[in-house]
Amino acid sequence: MEFIQLQPLSRAAGTVRLPGSKSISNRMLLLAALATGETEIRDLLDSDDTRVMLAALAKVGVNVTPVTPVTAIGQNAYRVTGCAGVFPGKDAALFMGNAGTAIRPLTAALALSGGHYCVSGVPRMHERPIGDLVDGLRQIGCDVRYTGNAGFPPLEIFPARVNLAEPIRVRGDVSSQFLTALLMALPLTGKTAVIEMTTELISKPYIEITLNLMARFGVTVEREGWRRFTIPAGPGYRSPGVVHVEGDASSASYFLAAGAIGGGPVRVEGVGRQSIQGDVKFANALETMGARISWGDNWIEASAPADGQLKAFDLDLNHIPDAAMTLAVAALFADGKCTLRNIASWRVKETDRIVAMATELRKLGATVEEGDDWIAVSMPPSKSAGAVSMPPSESAGAVSRAPTLQANVGIDTYDDHRVAMCFALAALGGVPVRINDPGCVAKTFPHYFDAFGAIAAPVIAIDGPSASGKGTVAQRVAAALGFHFLDSGALYRLTALAALRAGVAWDDEAAVAAVAAQLPAKFSGEQTFLDGDDVSAAIRTEEVGIGASKIAALPAVRSALLERQRAYRRFPGLVADGRDMGSVIFPAAEVKVFLTASAEARAERRYKQLIDKGMPDNMRPLLQDILQELRGRDARDAARSVAPLRRCDDADLVDTTELNIDEAVAAVMESVRPRLPFLN
Ligand code: DC
Repeated sequence: MEFIQLQPLSRAAGTVRLPGSKSISNRMLLLAALATGETEIRDLLDSDDTRVMLAALAKVGVNVTPVTPVTAIGQNAYRVTGCAGVFPGKDAALFMGNAGTAIRPLTAALALSGGHYCVSGVPRMHERPIGDLVDGLRQIGCDVRYTGNAGFPPLEIFPARVNLAEPIRVRGDVSSQFLTALLMALPLTGKTAVIEMTTELISKPYIEITLNLMARFGVTVEREGWRRFTIPAGPGYRSPGVVHVEGDASSASYFLAAGAIGGGPVRVEGVGRQSIQGDVKFANALETMGARISWGDNWIEASAPADGQLKAFDLDLNHIPDAAMTLAVAALFADGKCTLRNIASWRVKETDRIVAMATELRKLGATVEEGDDWIAVSMPPSKSAGAVSMPPSESAGAVSRAPTLQANVGIDTYDDHRVAMCFALAALGGVPVRINDPGCVAKTFPHYFDAFGAIAAPVIAIDGPSASGKGTVAQRVAAALGFHFLDSGALYRLTALAALRAGVAWDDEAAVAAVAAQLPAKFSGEQTFLDGDDVSAAIRTEEVGIGASKIAALPAVRSALLERQRAYRRFPGLVADGRDMGSVIFPAAEVKVFLTASAEARAERRYKQLIDKGMPDNMRPLLQDILQELRGRDARDAARSVAPLRRCDDADLVDTTELNIDEAVAAVMESVRPRLPFLN
């Protein structure tokens, strides 16, 4: 895909399950490969950078096999047979793409492995420094040579005799990954090894991840401040058996910022108080901007400041260099100049991130100053030409302010996943934004734009009494806007049918909920499939309708279908039809419509439908029965304790008694337009 066009977004709310951490995934893979014993790594990130590591390990003879299919959010479990410190493959050429977390630690391990290896990457990787690591390895006798430019990959590695008599002296001010690489590789020698830093160490929290994971694999490093590290003599790494990768805290930053900018609450699951990743501190930085943050053991939640206005900041962000990029975009929504300091490492990442961020932020109308290791971002107070601003929102929890971002900007992404991901947030400024080469997010988060859509894509929720015509109208509105469509009633009907077919009684709440949780349903155009079987007609029978209404009253069934319904929210937007769309499933829906009509008009429509289906037109007395039936159903629907039929306070009432379908669609569009003004 050349680009993704994001429409202006007005708010963000919802829950995102994070894919696994890149930093932890690649470290765990290498530790498991070097350990004695078999390790099962659960929730491993499935992305470009982890595939690079998996492929390299396979090439040096490590047995790594997937044990589950990749999940929808892009993670997987792997079984790694450890090689007890000695890679079986003694001669290999390894391509490391642009994965810093793979090339640095692997280079150090290979240098101590007694083989001959060539290590290379994409052209940008050959511009990213590795000299400090190579210097450290050479001090202990490793034979690592540059085959391109001195100080940069590609490298050629030869067997060597290692001497650990003296401490290894290494710089820590360009990348903390050099220290991580040495720390992870040195236990392979079996001897005591000492590392001394010759400079200030940057990005310290990443070293904490390294030490934490090494300890889980049985090697405890002694640390004296951030200056001296002692790796004890010993038998090397031991598999801890089964390990879990936590969610990626850097990836969390985009969603937390979306909550702070776009109202929220946005909750990320997979990181929290218990996280070992330094990037969770991004939440504290958002808090200094006034965002409201709450923490659980395994989740973090962010909402806009109580007064809706994010505040300017001046922060040293050395400890969260990756997540700091997200703050640079959040700065567009702040009430003044925001300064990000101590971020020199940006210059040697996937691209020169200081140049990239400054260039792209300016396109959006920001004033950006930059220095060697800092950047300052502010939005001019006056409206810039061509800017589109959102109307002030009527309800609390809307976008922090209407910034005057330049509309219709094309953001270049420099083959840098984080540039693509953080600039998506600019659309919350109520302007259309084009992200060029969005596929680069696959480096760490292949499904990023789906996940972002799941909290930020606009939702139009349509509810109403039986036979109000809401299904047809909702479908027509979705088609007119090019939005996705969720017929939630169909999910309840499918569940009822699946239960029937499985011999599960409709009043067996737990069993029906289990059916709902596993529902093998697929929608394709007008057709609906259950386990590959076309059930489009079968779910519309009276019998299944009765079953659907019974099982829809069971709370466990409703909650089993909750996430499945929310997953329909994707760019460019969703029209969701059904009972609790605006109250439970999408409470922050941009547009809520309650479609109704007098019972008489609805009965008349039902009667006409029956005639269209072939009933002779001489059954007018039936009309009374239909009317009775509808009134009874309205009463039951309104009285039921679970998801009763009622109009949400913030839903527009559209009475279609006097309207035909076209007029009803037009009336709904009247509700939609002022709230989603960018739509035609
Ligand atoms: O809209 P429909 O007739 O296809 O819905 C089938 C049944 O499911 C109906 O009894 C209403 C119920 N339902 C629900 O309780 N909640 C929804 N979101 C959608 C439908």
